Parts: sequence; C-alpha cells; structure tokens
Amino acid sequence: MSTQTVMVLSGPNLNLLGEREPEVYGADTLEDHMEVARRAAATHGLDVEHMQSNHEGELVDAIHAARDDCAAIVINPGAFTHYAWAIHDALAAFEGPVIEVHLSNPAAREPWRHTSVVAPVAAGTIAGFGGDGYRLAMDAVAALLASS
Ligand code: DQA
Repeated sequence: MSTQTVMVLSGPNLNLLGEREPEVYGADTLEDHMEVARRAAATHGLDVEHMQSNHEGELVDAIHAARDDCAAIVINPGAFTHYAWAIHDALAAFEGPVIEVHLSNPAAREPWRHTSVVAPVAAGTIAGFGGDGYRLAMDAVAALLASS
C-alpha cells in the first residue's frame, strides 16, 4: 500500500509564530510545529504536506487539491476559523477525516473566538495544547484512518 499523505493547512498570521504574541501562542515557529507534525505522522507511517496562506481562496484551492491525493486534513484556520464559510464548504467536500487544531483555547478567549465555522465539518477539534496539538492531531488521524 502506498504511503498516505496528511495535508496540514495553516491560516493567516501563523507564519508569524515565534514572534507573534508569544504569551498566547508560544515561542515555537510554524516550522517547529511542522517538525512535530512530521515526526508524529512518521510514527504512524504517514507523510505530511504543509501549506500556509494568509488568503482564504488559496486555502480553499489547497483543500480542493487535497481531494486528489490526501487521506486526511489537519487545519489550523487562524482567524478564518470564526467566519470563513468558503473554507467550511470546501472541507465539507473533502471525503477524508478533517481535524481542527488551535494552539490556544479559543473557547477561553474573547467571545468572537467562541464560534468555529470549521468545527461542524471536522471529525474533532484539538485546542489549547500548544504545538503538542499537532502530535495529538496525527494520533487522531491515524486512528480515524485505521477505523475507516
Ligand atoms: C488560533 C486561534 C484563532 O482565534 C486566532 O485567530 C489564530 C490562532 C490558534 O491557533 O490558537 O490566529 O487559530
């Protein structure tokens, strides 16, 4: 069987991790988090493809592309989480499991962060565990793929 690929998508401002509000998001860079994701994926025999964009349409295009060759999607949509219905619709058209990840715990922050338009089309959400969320997400993906 060929190796399955997990598409990891990062939304706006996540390219600034390490510099951006470290008291909220920690000192690790996005590349540090992707290293965690890749290592965790490898323990399950999975590959990771990563894409970060500050533009909603580019994330929608990446979700469409994942339909052809990715078994699962792990997405931290950044602020798009709270209002980007085009991302919701694109994820709804993806057949494999979708895991929503947040470094912080949006439910414990400002009220406008309490709504996620991505959560209804995700198998589950991992929030508030910092970069460890990416390891937990890969464990969840592996379990979901094994049971599908
Ligand atoms: C975030 C939470 C969002 O509310 C915020 O807009 C982000 C990052 C997180 O990972 O905690 O950009 O998705």
